[in-house]
Amino acid sequence: MNGESTEVAVDVRSTEGTTVRLDTLEDTLRFGRSLGAMLRAGDLVILSGSLGAGKTALTKGIGAGMGVTGTIASPTFVLVRVHPAGPDGVQLVHVDAYRLAGAVELDDLDLDTDLTASAVVIEWGEGVAEQLADARLTIHLDRRPDDTRLATLTAVGDDWTPRMAALSAADSQSD
Ligand SMILES: Nc1ncnc2c1ncn2[C@@H]1O[C@H](COP(=O)(O)OP(=O)(O)O)[C@@H](O)[C@H]1O
Ligand SMILES: [Mg+2]
Repeated sequence: MNGESTEVAVDVRSTEGTTVRLDTLEDTLRFGRSLGAMLRAGDLVILSGSLGAGKTALTKGIGAGMGVTGTIASPTFVLVRVHPAGPDGVQLVHVDAYRLAGAVELDDLDLDTDLTASAVVIEWGEGVAEQLADARLTIHLDRRPDDTRLATLTAVGDDWTPRMAALSAADSQSD
């Protein structure tokens, strides 16, 4: 994050159930940029949460942090959008699993092939996309009555532990 200060409050209790307060859209975009900057080829990020919770907004931030090209939008009528890599060299595969019948249809998208060369972010992926990779980060976005969002991060796989710590450090700098 280039030493940029942020106001996102991160509360790290454990790798499982780390919560991040995202009070505004800008917080969500900024958090996404921090996360995107640390994504590598082979990473799987599963986004869950109800319609309007901020999954696409978070993906926009992730894409910006990765430096990929192409406008990130809600892929409602497109199941998969591939955003070519920028100078950092990792492309982003953005999937919306909302219309997928389940894991069988997800298999048809051949995302396991994409995963070797890309970071894959799957909206509505909870319960269907876990099979794609042993290591993954799941982010549940909860839209609260005051319209702020609470992100709950659950990482599976050793690889995420140091990165979660770095992410927390980046996002609590200015507190
Ligand atoms: N803290 C916040 N984080 C993300 N989105 C927010 C936030 N506050 C308000 N919003 C608004 O909520 C909407 C989220 O939409 P979107 O990202 O498309 O949700 P989803 O993909 O989960 O359906 C956007 O209109 C955005 O401007
Ligand atoms: Mg969306």
